[in-house]
Amino acid sequence: MAKVQSLKTQFLLRLALPLSLFVVLDAIASYYIAFYYANAAYDRWLLDSARSLAQEVKAQKGKVTFELPPTALEIFQWDDVDQTFFKIESSSIGFMAGDKRVPPPPDPASVRKQPAYFDSMIQAHRVRVVSMLATPKDSSEEVLVQVAETVRKRRSMMTDILLAELVPQLVLVCAAGLYIWLGINRGLRPLNALTREIAQRSPRDLTPIPDTGVPLEVLTLTHTINDLLARLSTAITAQQRFIANAAHQLRTPLAGLKVQAERALRETNLETMRPALMQIRNGADRASRLSTQLLSLARSETALGGSRPASRVDLRAVARDACIDWVPKALQRDMDLSFEGPEDPIYVQGEQTLLRELLNNLLDNAIRYGREHGQITVRITADTPPALVVEDDGPGIPDSEVDRIFERFYRPPGSPGDGCGLGLAIVKEIAEQHDARARLSRSSLGGARIEVRF
Ligand SMILES: Nc1ncnc2c1ncn2[C@@H]1O[C@H](COP(=O)(O)OP(=O)(O)OP(=O)(O)O)[C@@H](O)[C@H]1O
Ligand SMILES: [Mg+2]
Repeated sequence: MAKVQSLKTQFLLRLALPLSLFVVLDAIASYYIAFYYANAAYDRWLLDSARSLAQEVKAQKGKVTFELPPTALEIFQWDDVDQTFFKIESSSIGFMAGDKRVPPPPDPASVRKQPAYFDSMIQAHRVRVVSMLATPKDSSEEVLVQVAETVRKRRSMMTDILLAELVPQLVLVCAAGLYIWLGINRGLRPLNALTREIAQRSPRDLTPIPDTGVPLEVLTLTHTINDLLARLSTAITAQQRFIANAAHQLRTPLAGLKVQAERALRETNLETMRPALMQIRNGADRASRLSTQLLSLARSETALGGSRPASRVDLRAVARDACIDWVPKALQRDMDLSFEGPEDPIYVQGEQTLLRELLNNLLDNAIRYGREHGQITVRITADTPPALVVEDDGPGIPDSEVDRIFERFYRPPGSPGDGCGLGLAIVKEIAEQHDARARLSRSSLGGARIEVRF
């Protein structure tokens, strides 16, 4: 079974996921931007410190000295967050002042061009170090000045920037999610109301469901449902009319049977009973024919369960077999029943028993209503789409009846015999089940011509 997805969850996932992704990406970008600027600002301060130390490097009679007043040293080292270290080294003397633990620059050559920065460790503390060269006046000696500082301030500044950036964004995402959630709930309210309305409905109530205050998207749904209800209502009305008709049609021969049976019962002599018994037999025939036709109609309506037939049927073979079976009946009226068809099979998507039923009804009519000693032709044409034609040279059906002749229980006034008026309705029903159309016209032979085109 397919997994049922909630519209709400889908909406939320589709909105919240990209939003969160955006926040994460934005946080990463902010982190690097903050990292860059925080470093740049503190590096500048570090360089300033190195420069002020370099100013204290002097030369006296060709000898470099470095002297820092203790107060200056204090100011320089005064910081309650980070620890600052420095180191002064000259090429000739070597270590002159400061802290020997300050590591030498990894690339001494680069210091010659401009002050160089690098990251290192002092006593398990991460430090940022700047190195620069000082060349005191009146001396050719090069003095390396280095200042190192632990990175606590930088780190806490980064965290501050990141928090200032992230927290409002997260709040925004949560607020947006909540807002969307409430919005969806409100948006789906008409749908819930609609579900309640349909659930509470009586199965007999086929009036349209109200669609005032329903949003546009749901309106299509209500329109479709109302459309379906309207069609259902028409179908049910037709069904009810049919049942009423069928009951009426069944009652007539049964009432006749009863009357004739009472008449026969009043007689004592078999000979005088005979006419009533004959009537009873005819009435039983009629009732039997009616129930057969009613069943046939019901079967053709339901056999395919509303779907198109799945199997392939050779129309030519079905028609030929039907003709062979009906020859004895035709001969009883001295009629000539002929079959015309192509050499090769003509395949249609169909249900063999239903197609046979259709042909039976057309042949029954042709033999029943055609001319004695007449001619009946059953023809299959190989055109696309293929067609089935049954025609005769009898009296035919007047043009004025064309519209009603396929209706259930309809027989033109004065129709001979005692049919029940269901034959052509069955033909029409089976044709429709096969996506085909049954049409009545006048035959070139002079009689009726029924064509079923697939
Ligand atoms: N080939 C035909 N020639 C002349 N009239 C026909 C022909 N076929 C049908 N009809 C007329 O159309 C009417 C309806 O035919 P239909 O087959 O629907 O019903 P039916 O034959 O009266 O009853 P049943 O349900 O027993 O077949 C017939 O009563 C008859 O008057
Ligand atoms: Mg008939």
